[in-house]
Amino acid sequence: MQDSKLMQILLKRGFIWPSFEIYGGVKGFYDYGPLGSLLKRNIEEAIRQTYVIEESCFELSCPTLSPEDIWVASGHVSSFNDMMVECTKCGEPYRADHLIEANLKINCDGKGIDEIKKLLEKLKCPKCKSMLSEPYKYNLMFKSYVGPGSRKITAYLRPETAQTTYVPFKRLIKIARDKLPFGVLQIGRSFRNEISPRQGLVRLREFTQAEIQFFVDPANKEKELGEFANLNLAILPKDGKEINITLGKALKQKIIRTPFIAYHLGKAFQLFTKIGINPKKLRLRQHLDDERAFYSSDTWDIEFMSKELGRIELVGISDRTDYDLKAHQNLSKQSMEVTFNGKRFIPHIIEIAYGVDRPFYCILESCFVEETGKKERNIFKFPANIAPYIAAVFPLVTKDRIDKKAEEVFNKLKNQQLFVLYDSAGSIGRRYARADEAGIPYCITIDYDTLEDNTVTIRYRDSMEQERVQIDKIKEKIMGK
Ligand code: GLY
Repeated sequence: MQDSKLMQILLKRGFIWPSFEIYGGVKGFYDYGPLGSLLKRNIEEAIRQTYVIEESCFELSCPTLSPEDIWVASGHVSSFNDMMVECTKCGEPYRADHLIEANLKINCDGKGIDEIKKLLEKLKCPKCKSMLSEPYKYNLMFKSYVGPGSRKITAYLRPETAQTTYVPFKRLIKIARDKLPFGVLQIGRSFRNEISPRQGLVRLREFTQAEIQFFVDPANKEKELGEFANLNLAILPKDGKEINITLGKALKQKIIRTPFIAYHLGKAFQLFTKIGINPKKLRLRQHLDDERAFYSSDTWDIEFMSKELGRIELVGISDRTDYDLKAHQNLSKQSMEVTFNGKRFIPHIIEIAYGVDRPFYCILESCFVEETGKKERNIFKFPANIAPYIAAVFPLVTKDRIDKKAEEVFNKLKNQQLFVLYDSAGSIGRRYARADEAGIPYCITIDYDTLEDNTVTIRYRDSMEQERVQIDKIKEKIMGK
C-alpha cells in the first residue's frame, strides 16, 4: 500500500502519514493531516446524522481508559486473544492465521488451535527461514495503571467503545423513559495491540470506532424494512453460497433471520453509498459459527472488496443477546433488569459497529480516478457532503486588486458557513490540479471581469466545465439551495 499511486497522493496532499516519523515510526499508528482530518470529521458527521438524527439515537462519550473490572466482566481479559507465533531466531512476531493465509492460501476463519498448529508445522519464518515457535494466545489489550504507588489500579485502554456504553445502562434507560428499543451512538478512539499491523489504515493499534448499541426487548427484534426491502445486494451466508438477492427476500427466505439486523444492514449499506463508497464493491457476509466473537449469537459484516488490500470489514452487526449486560450485572452486583410491557428481563443488545478509518480508506479508493490521455490528472471524486473543502477560491493574479476581491469572496463564503480554501500560489492549471487531488468539487476564480460585473468563474471538478456566476449566487449554485 505504501508505494501505490493512491498512497503517494495521500502523503503528498496531507491526508494521512505514518505517526512519529522523525523517530522512525511505530507500526499501526497514522496521523490524519489537514485534509484527512476534515474528511474523517465529515464521515463521523454522516454517521451522526444517520443515527442521532434519522434513527433518534442518543449520543454518548466515555473515557478511553477504564478499570480492569469492566474488561473482566466483558470477557476481554480472558478471551480477547489472537493466536501468535514468533521466529525462534530473529524474533519476528506473526499472527498465526495471517501467516497461514499468506503462505498456504488457507482461510483460517473458524479453525481451532490444533488445526492451526498442524498448518504452522509446514511453515518457516518468511524473513529468515528459521523455525517458528509454538503458537500461543496473545491478549490484544493495552494494559495500564491509574493512580500512584500501592493505591494504583489496573486499567486497560478500551478495545471497543461498546462496553463503556453498557456500563451506564441504568442511567441510559432512565433517559429513555424506561422504554425499549433505544439506541446509543458512541464515536471515539479504541486501542488494540495488534501483533503485526501491516495494512495501513485497515489494521491500526489506535483507531476510531462509531458503535451504536440498540437495547431491545428479547421478544421483539422486529423492524419494518421499508425502502430497504427492494435493495438488491450480494450476500454470503454462513453456508458459503454467495447470492444476489433483495433484503426483503433474504428475510423471507430466512437467510437473514432477524428483521432488526436486516434493516440495519440496509441502513449501513445506504450510508456507505452516500459517503462515496462504491456499492458494487460491497458484500454482506455472515460470520461462521466458529468465527463469531465470544459475545455474539449472530453477526453480519458489510465488506468492501479492495483492489489493493483485499477484503475489508467496514461494519459488523451483531446480536449480542443479554451477554454483556448480564456479565456486568454479575460482577458489579447492580441489576440490569427492566420492567417493560409487564415483563421483567435483561434487554438484548444489537450492535452496529463501524470503524471510521476503514471507510475513510475505502472512500479514498472508491473515489480515486486517474484520468489519462490529453489531460492527465488525479482526482478524488468525493460526494460534496464529505469533501474536505466544498470549494477553492483563486485570484487569477495577485495584483490589480484582484487578490483583494478574491479575499472578499473567500470571506463572504466563510461567513456563509462554507468550508472553503484560498489558494493563490502558482498557475491556475497547477491550482486546479492541487484542488482535484484534494477532491474539491468547485474552483472559483476571480479575474478582471469580476471587478467589472461581480461575476466569477466556477469550474466543476468532475466535468471540468466552467460557468460564469454572480458572487451572490455562488452558495446557491454549489450547495443546490
Ligand atoms: N464492538 C465490536 C467491535 O469492536 O468489533
